[in-house]
Amino acid sequence: MDTSTVSSRGADPGALPVTLEVNGAALSLTVAPYVTLLDLLRERLQLTGTKKGCDHGQCGACTVLVDGKPINSCLKLAVTADGARVTTIEGLGADGRGGALQRAFIEHDAFQCGYCTPGQVCSAVALVAEGIAFTYDEVREYMSGNLCRCGAYPNITDAVMDVLRQQPGPDT
Ligand code: FES
Ligand code: FES
Repeated sequence: MDTSTVSSRGADPGALPVTLEVNGAALSLTVAPYVTLLDLLRERLQLTGTKKGCDHGQCGACTVLVDGKPINSCLKLAVTADGARVTTIEGLGADGRGGALQRAFIEHDAFQCGYCTPGQVCSAVALVAEGIAFTYDEVREYMSGNLCRCGAYPNITDAVMDVLRQQPGPDT
């Protein structure tokens, strides 16, 4: 990762210092105040697994986890994430819920072009961690901010339900 001054439009005298943890790596950066977290991740840190769809908070392709919560990174200025823990699809790895969800997406054929998939998986990781959606309809509602132009919704929901069923119950 290039961790020097971050500006999607070159050097910026108004750049501000930002400290972030991205996928477990502590970074100290200087970021222009207009740079979104999405552009920081993709253009400077080369974490291109996170996708830019609408760039207006409407599609969910840019979903990442900030302190464990799913957010649209196209709507968040990088400087406002100062001190945060950011997890992208690259940071979910093969273990834990992230790995289980990625395997379930493959097993359930839950994508076609795959453009929405990183955002879908990040939202699903938060869904499983939060433990607030359990039924097919609840999963669809929780995931409603993640659009899929290929219409893979039934298979995406099946994949998430599969992982939910594997979670230990409250008494286990
Ligand atoms: S690119 Fe962020 S919501 Fe569409
Ligand atoms: S798999 Fe193509 S947009 Fe979802």
